[in-house]
Amino acid sequence: MNNVLTEFAGLYEKFESQFNNRHFPEKPEKLYDAAEHYLSLRGKRIRPVLCLMGNELFAPLKQDAFFAANAIELFHNFTLVHDDIMDHAVLRRGHQTVHKLYGESTALLAGDVMLIQAYDYLSKINTTHLPKVLSLFADAAKKVCEGQQLDMEFENRDHVSLDDYVNMISLKTSVLLAASLRIGSVLGGAGPANQENLYSFGKNLGIAFQIQDDYLDAFGNAEKFGKKHGGDIMSNKKTFLHLRAMNVLEDGKKVEYAKLLQGNDETKIEPIIRIYRSCGVDEWAKKLKQKYFDLALKHLEEVAVVSVRKNSLIHLAESLMERQS
Ligand code: IPE
Ligand code: IPE
Ligand code: MG
Ligand code: MG
Ligand code: MG
Repeated sequence: MNNVLTEFAGLYEKFESQFNNRHFPEKPEKLYDAAEHYLSLRGKRIRPVLCLMGNELFAPLKQDAFFAANAIELFHNFTLVHDDIMDHAVLRRGHQTVHKLYGESTALLAGDVMLIQAYDYLSKINTTHLPKVLSLFADAAKKVCEGQQLDMEFENRDHVSLDDYVNMISLKTSVLLAASLRIGSVLGGAGPANQENLYSFGKNLGIAFQIQDDYLDAFGNAEKFGKKHGGDIMSNKKTFLHLRAMNVLEDGKKVEYAKLLQGNDETKIEPIIRIYRSCGVDEWAKKLKQKYFDLALKHLEEVAVVSVRKNSLIHLAESLMERQS
């Protein structure tokens, strides 16, 4: 990410120094190479860093927070492998997707084994906090499945409201950011009220995070973003860009837009993006992100620790609002 902040960079390095090695055995080679593929391409590591930050808000870093962070990052990468199959994505982190390289069946299994490995990391956590961490993790994981199901169902649905969209993206994306923070805070010894406020901070931040993701899919620099330009348009995703267009286009333009949506080759991407632009989506995106960012900060304010301790979280949240990758 551009502008990596020192606090973030420090925890990123701490995380990497114990995560950036092989997680799986050599054989069967195809299965485990597929499972290692995204892990070795790294990514931003936002979720494990949030987990470590959640711990550090309340106590010095514990080994258990690293086990949880490893589990969370593995889980996240598992969701990416399966998500790329569902979204027919060909590129991730600037490289070919797992199913493109290894085939869908191996990609499914690679994802499965990553999820299983995630639970193996969780099993190393001290028994005092293990039941709570496991149940938070399982709750988030189930919600991700629910969100992913809705995301796919919306592809074939004509009417999706802004509330539907926000609910879907909070399930598929933001609950995992929220749970990462909360799990870290549990391991740092936080009480229930602080845990819940951190969770709500993460949840609102995650909504803004996915709004930016949807924005970058159409307007980002594909090289920096590492995914194929216009992938959501090709999959007929009901992003806020689409919802905005449906809301503000006048009838004639709406007919033109509807016609473009019917197309199934890539020539439709640019005209659709031009329509988005004509709907003032830049300003709308800014406003929408700001709304959830402000809500997030309100919850962070309620967390009962001295405010300087919250600075790194605030800085990380700010940098995510403007992220280009
Ligand atoms: C990608 O997440 C999937 C979404 C929820 C948008 P990230 O943008 O955190 O991906 P990496 O791990 O940094 O590649
Ligand atoms: C992904 O949403 C959410 C999960 C992986 C659970 P997207 O489908 O928008 O993520 P990208 O753009 O492929 O990373
Ligand atoms: Mg996707
Ligand atoms: Mg998806
Ligand atoms: Mg996306």
